Amino acid sequence: MDSFEWNRMAGAFLAALLSLLALSILTDEFLMRPEVPQQKGYVVAGVEAEADAGEAAPAEAEPPVEVFLASADLARGEAAFKKCAACHSINEGGANGVGPNLWGIVGAPHARVAGFQYSDALAARKGEPWSWAALDAWLRSPKAAIPGNRMAFAGIGRPQERADLLVYLNSKSSRPLPIPAAPPPAAEATADAPAEAATTAPAEAAAGAGAPA
Ligand code: HEC
Repeated sequence: MDSFEWNRMAGAFLAALLSLLALSILTDEFLMRPEVPQQKGYVVAGVEAEADAGEAAPAEAEPPVEVFLASADLARGEAAFKKCAACHSINEGGANGVGPNLWGIVGAPHARVAGFQYSDALAARKGEPWSWAALDAWLRSPKAAIPGNRMAFAGIGRPQERADLLVYLNSKSSRPLPIPAAPPPAAEATADAPAEAATTAPAEAAAGAGAPA
């Protein structure tokens, strides 16, 4: 073997080393890559957002609105209404803003203001009364209470603040409703659950029976 051939062999050896090195770098790259999608950045973000929305509306965990109404405060409610005043008037005969006038809203039917352009979602509830519980759920999370509505308001997480606000809304009426009494603590869980089960179960059964046809 002459030196030329030695050079060629050494060159080939080096080239092989280099390509091995390059290969190992590339495979590292490619082996690392799958870890990125495995973190599922988008999916986790979406799930977290939904979890947050869920946390804002812990329907079961919270005592009913009556419990908080019992200790509600009108002045605190009036202060809380500042959150609404940008979009709603509350005085009798007040003009509609971004949202409809709210005079006498407690106990009034949904979507009752003539001439206000309600969303289809809210209009679909037309006539249904805005009960204390319905308003409480609406103010906790408008989006969760009536999906597809147009009130761009995140909701009020603190149940006492919502109750304060409800008592204030109720005072802005020609016929304020009596504040409902708080249920005895022991009765809360048992009284609510079976009543709900009884009303929803047959409806679901009927829907299920109708579905295959
Ligand atoms: C960013 C504007 C905005 C804010 C802030 C806002 N609302 Fe609304 N509200 C609306 C709009 C718009 C509608 C109509 C929604 C629809 O048609 O889907 C509405 C609808 C309502 C309704 C239903 C009225 C009816 O006639 O059925 C009630 C009750 C209500 N809002 C109460 C409140 C309260 C209380 C607050 C404060 C905590 C508040 N809103 C904050 C814009 C707002």
